[in-house]
Amino acid sequence: MASKSMPSALTFDLEARCSTTKARAATLHLPHGPVPLPIFMPVATQASLKGLTPEQLEETNCRLCLNNTYHLGLKPGQANLDAIGGAHKLQSWPHNILTDSGGFQMVSLLKLAQVTEDGVRFLSPHDGTPMLLTPEHSISLQNSIGSDIIMQLDDVIATTSPDHARITEAMHRSVRWLDRCIAAHRNPSMQNLFCIIQGGLDLDLRRECCAEMVARDTPGIAIGGLSGGEEKTSYCRVVSTCTDLLPEKKPRYVMGVGYPEDLVVSIALGADMFDCVWPTRTARFGNAVTSKGVLNLRHSTYASDFGPVEEGCGCTCCRPKEEGGLGITRAFVYHVAAKETVGAHLLTMHNVHYQLDLVRRAREAILENRFPAFIKDFFGKLYDDKE
Ligand code: GUN
Ligand code: ZN
Repeated sequence: MASKSMPSALTFDLEARCSTTKARAATLHLPHGPVPLPIFMPVATQASLKGLTPEQLEETNCRLCLNNTYHLGLKPGQANLDAIGGAHKLQSWPHNILTDSGGFQMVSLLKLAQVTEDGVRFLSPHDGTPMLLTPEHSISLQNSIGSDIIMQLDDVIATTSPDHARITEAMHRSVRWLDRCIAAHRNPSMQNLFCIIQGGLDLDLRRECCAEMVARDTPGIAIGGLSGGEEKTSYCRVVSTCTDLLPEKKPRYVMGVGYPEDLVVSIALGADMFDCVWPTRTARFGNAVTSKGVLNLRHSTYASDFGPVEEGCGCTCCRPKEEGGLGITRAFVYHVAAKETVGAHLLTMHNVHYQLDLVRRAREAILENRFPAFIKDFFGKLYDDKE
């Protein structure tokens, strides 16, 4: 096992704890600036958030976004990343970046990916040549990317899998792969390696994995293998079991979450960091995420709706012209949504702002010791008076 006292490139300041839930507010100091926790991280898969310029992403107050090792490793590739000096330079992004390790994307995108003890084998989507992503190669790529937070390569099995033996094997393999990642990591004083807890929906496996991972003393800890179609109660049990066993003074990241209601519930269960492609992906289908639920602006009821996408929203798309925004109406998005990319761009802007603002308001409520009232208000608006 790797030695304790791994160097880290972060500090974690715990600022407040909710007295009735497990919610926390903190500040995470990373190499490219401070990040308030809880945080939602938008996903910029190919070093770009589809539809937004880096400047527009900055305008949403995003200070930590996600890139994927898998995509960047294929294009522009490691040699180009080294030549340009990493992903911050590539995308002209002065703030923090977190990279996922790549294996999860391969297994979920390429159905033919095959996991062995060596790593994840797959056929290149470019030219079909066989490739192998090992823990060492994933870390080497992430070292070239220069992301502020890098993720271990893990063995991810869908929570809905009935194969308990395989789920057990994947949990133990993820621990062994963490040791290989720690050994391969070239600059732990500049990039923070996070472990990923696996174990499916089996709480004993999750407990065992927590103990193994916590002993490795990485600067931050992720809870993986969730958000794969499991029941909400099972999801909550896993998150809560893990957060009870994790050190208080380290950031906790639940991967692949989520919908606004999942963010609020997971914050209450003691999680600090989240990412999900959903708000940006759903924007491209004409969907606006609002406090009253998701509105599909391609529906003809919006053809003559001259209100903003969401009343009172402070995003660049919704803010009136007099306040420096674009003053976009639902009717405009309706009219351009089907054929023009501008509708998708505007909704991407709004949806990212919505998610970031939701966790920012949750954080404020935790700091002001009124988080339970915040939860009540959030669910009241979402379920009671739908438009
Ligand atoms: N994204 C969503 N879930 C996971 C997971 O379990 N592991 C990794 N590496 N990425 C994820
Ligand atoms: Zn808006």
